Amino acid sequence: MTEQATSKVAMDKIVSLCRRRGFIFPSSEIYGGLSSCWDYGPLGVELKRNVREAWWRMMVQERDDMVGIETSILMHPQVWVASGHVKAFHDPLVECKCCHVRWRGDEIQTAACPTCGGELTAPQQFNLMFKTFMGPVEDHASVTYLRPETAQGMFVNFENVVNTTRRRLPFGIAQMGKSFRNEITTGNFIFRSREFEQMEIEYFVKPGTEQKWFEYWLEERFNWYVRLGIKKEHLKLREHCKEELAHYARGCFDVNYLFPMGWAELEGIASRGDYDLKQHSTCSGKGLDYLDEETKERYVPYVIEPSAGVDRSVLAFLCDAYDEDIAEGEQRVVLRFHPLLAPVKVAILPLSKKEHLAALTKEVYADLRKSIVVQYDDTQSIGRRYRRQDEIGTPFCVTVDFQSLEDKTVTIRERDRMDQIRVPIAELKKTLQAKLSGEDFLVLPPGGKFWKTAEITEKQSVKGA
Ligand code: GAP
Repeated sequence: MTEQATSKVAMDKIVSLCRRRGFIFPSSEIYGGLSSCWDYGPLGVELKRNVREAWWRMMVQERDDMVGIETSILMHPQVWVASGHVKAFHDPLVECKCCHVRWRGDEIQTAACPTCGGELTAPQQFNLMFKTFMGPVEDHASVTYLRPETAQGMFVNFENVVNTTRRRLPFGIAQMGKSFRNEITTGNFIFRSREFEQMEIEYFVKPGTEQKWFEYWLEERFNWYVRLGIKKEHLKLREHCKEELAHYARGCFDVNYLFPMGWAELEGIASRGDYDLKQHSTCSGKGLDYLDEETKERYVPYVIEPSAGVDRSVLAFLCDAYDEDIAEGEQRVVLRFHPLLAPVKVAILPLSKKEHLAALTKEVYADLRKSIVVQYDDTQSIGRRYRRQDEIGTPFCVTVDFQSLEDKTVTIRERDRMDQIRVPIAELKKTLQAKLSGEDFLVLPPGGKFWKTAEITEKQSVKGA
């Protein structure tokens, strides 16, 4: 069996569900769409916010050694000279001499054009940064770039953060935000686009301790995906071989996910040494070294960088949650999202539209919506409404029925097991909040590890594959 065959869902099913239920639309669709740009619809925007919030909460707010920042997308053009992006952020581009379609030279398997079989040009280096102009004059002096990564905003603020927070090593700076790359080829839905979002950490450590922290972050980031519901067997770590390493990296692992098109990068975790701080120090003339209060030594910290994509994470969470099974004799599509990620947490459903039932249901709805993301739905049969909520991944449905009018109880139906319990309305909020806290869903054994770092290279990394 090929690796591709083990992915349980085809990409067109995900694309079609996202389109049909309002997760993701092609950008500027009424004008025919814009290649590789996507708009998040009402459910997509909630899912994406939940992914960002889960990252921010677990990587920044729940840690003592992390601070967040948000830097501008447009930066001084010298930043990109210092970082090496002007000189080295290239992909090899080849063009068909016949049909003039352009390809990434390292991604096509044949010597001829995959579209028409025509002869290809020799590869040229194509810089992936989007160029633009600052101000009203479009000349060489006003050229700047849309940032291709959020990372540099953190390096150039290293001194500001140290001075204002009095942080001691090891500590990290985290940020999330838009990045732009003029990719030669895009595709696989939101996997590779020209405008996307990143969630990045620059973790500063004392030189000599970087290997320990590199291994720590490999484990921490791998487990983040598993904690949020991605099956461990759909993830693996892949070590970059020397030829693959980015210009700044001394070592790098990808967290790969088994996407519908096969194993592909979800996140990169790089050991960047002191490359960035040294480069910015040289190019700006500002010393970016660090005074170790304990030893009174001055040195430039080393950096471990876990760099994830928001859109790729959204795609991986969608693919992993997707399932089809049989419910009440009918085939259903269900997104088995972790409750932290589900765009709607609870659906509130009156069994019928009868007036007195609707009044009680609306009371329940009004009370819950103050603290939980809920959706009211009274159209079509109850079975259809359950199917609709299953398809968007809503973990719980609360049904108000005729018994509710008599004894002030309602049913809670759980999405995955489809079992139902009856609870007093007075205890509904507390019961739902406990269920939604995620404890029922956490896959990680308490304090447990999925693998030991020593095992990575042997079992889960496919060197250079
Ligand atoms: N600062 C390091 C850095 O940017 P990268 O491996 O080039 O490293 C990190 O990018 C992550 O950003 C990737 O693992 C991926 O999740 C996301 N990413 C990169 N390019 C992307 C694109 N064109 N579309 C969507 N996501 C992208």
